[in-house]
Amino acid sequence: MRRKKNIQIPNLELTTAGAKGVAIGKTEEGKTVLVGYAVPGDVVNAQVIKSKKNYYEAKVLDFIKYSSDRLDPECMHFGICGGCKWQNLSYEKQLEYKEKEVYNNIKRIGKIDNFQELTIVPSTDKYFYRNKMEFSFSNARWLTSEEIQSDIDIEDKNALGFHIPQQWNKVLDIKECFLQQEPSNKIRNSIKEFALKHKMEFYDFKEQSGFLRTLMIRSNSKNDLMVLLQFFREDEQNIGKILNYIREEFPEVKTILYAINSKGNDSLYDLDVKIFHGNGFLTEEIEGLKFKIGPKSFFQTNYKQAVKLYEIARDFADLKGDEVVYDLYTGTGTIAQFISRKAKTVVGVEAVPEAINAAKENAEYNNIKNCRFYCGDMKDIFTEEFIHENGHPDIIVTDPPREGMHKNVVETILRIAPQKIVYVSCNSATQARDLELMKEKYEVVKVQAVDMFPQTYHVESVALLKLK
Ligand SMILES: C[S@@+](CC[C@H](N)C(=O)[O-])C[C@H]1O[C@@H](n2cnc3c(N)ncnc32)[C@H](O)[C@@H]1O
Repeated sequence: MRRKKNIQIPNLELTTAGAKGVAIGKTEEGKTVLVGYAVPGDVVNAQVIKSKKNYYEAKVLDFIKYSSDRLDPECMHFGICGGCKWQNLSYEKQLEYKEKEVYNNIKRIGKIDNFQELTIVPSTDKYFYRNKMEFSFSNARWLTSEEIQSDIDIEDKNALGFHIPQQWNKVLDIKECFLQQEPSNKIRNSIKEFALKHKMEFYDFKEQSGFLRTLMIRSNSKNDLMVLLQFFREDEQNIGKILNYIREEFPEVKTILYAINSKGNDSLYDLDVKIFHGNGFLTEEIEGLKFKIGPKSFFQTNYKQAVKLYEIARDFADLKGDEVVYDLYTGTGTIAQFISRKAKTVVGVEAVPEAINAAKENAEYNNIKNCRFYCGDMKDIFTEEFIHENGHPDIIVTDPPREGMHKNVVETILRIAPQKIVYVSCNSATQARDLELMKEKYEVVKVQAVDMFPQTYHVESVALLKLK
């Protein structure tokens, strides 16, 4: 990478959107320019911040013309907060660019043409669609440039909100958020107020000290709530005080949990979570199947869209009832159970032990007898020996994390060659990379983009592959 200080690009017309939501234009010489915090249709004067061989990365110096696809963002934190970067773009245009991104990646990275490009499935809810939010406490609030420049002594530097992108020890104090239904905002703001009134210390990221560390609010489709607080240290009296306050103030919070976390990071997975109130989990229902969601369980964050995604995966699999299906990266076994009524057997595989325990528990809870679940890193557990023991799959459903599938997993799939593969992905670039690895043996029949995350550039994609 070469850095060039003073390249300015006047009158740059931004014509489309690219990866991670950047707006794209071209210089007069035809070089591509990627611009953050602008939208297609804007005309800007831009300053190059990174110069690469084939493109520039640039920032807006000033806007000459605003795009007619722009909307006024709903949220007061837009532009500083790292989430919802596309709140200033009409939803129709968000869908258009997401769809393009998925299909272009498959053509460009996967070098695959001639597949059916299905129209993107929009989200039922444009806002308030998330069922899980995580906030951090910090005693070093992100200060605006006006606050920094002013002479006023800033007394309250405490924040409860989101980390600023690329500034991991700075937290933006969130007053409103349009991602989770009420009383999510009310709970967060009241907890902060209560903590300040009772002089409880907010976490100090630099010194690694303090008391209040993180807040997680989870909800289900009936809007039952779970609240979990992480504390940096034991303090029985104050823990009791704040958790009792939540219980009394918010009766809709069905369960309250907490964990003591004095580690360097705030990941919950290796912490001992204690139940303060209620039974410690929420229950979600899909087509009469019940799923127990504990504090550590993965569950798709946009419930209504998750149901649509699972329906698409099931439609693509087109099961007749006598198939052996593998659900790779099964999480808590949701897809496995969702399709189990139409299959002979389903084998679910996943790396997180708690998720697999929940999958087994949920299957028992739902009286499902034809699903088996196994725990392990996919590249180690998904071997020919494993397949020999569990039956040759007719169909593989795979839903890997953003990095896509490990190349060993792809190789195993190619060796055992199931008739069909349904590839669900939250990152169409890695999906396209994996599809290319499989294209000798598999035809990509159709691909369906699904919007799970309105106001962001993230998009889900489901591909159907058939053995040639
Ligand atoms: C996108 S989620 C899929 C969840 C599930 N299909 C659902 O809809 O709820 C990806 C899952 O892959 C799991 N995972 C990540 N890396 C893994 C690996 N190397 N081996 C096995 N599972 C892995 C994660 O724990 C997560 O549950």
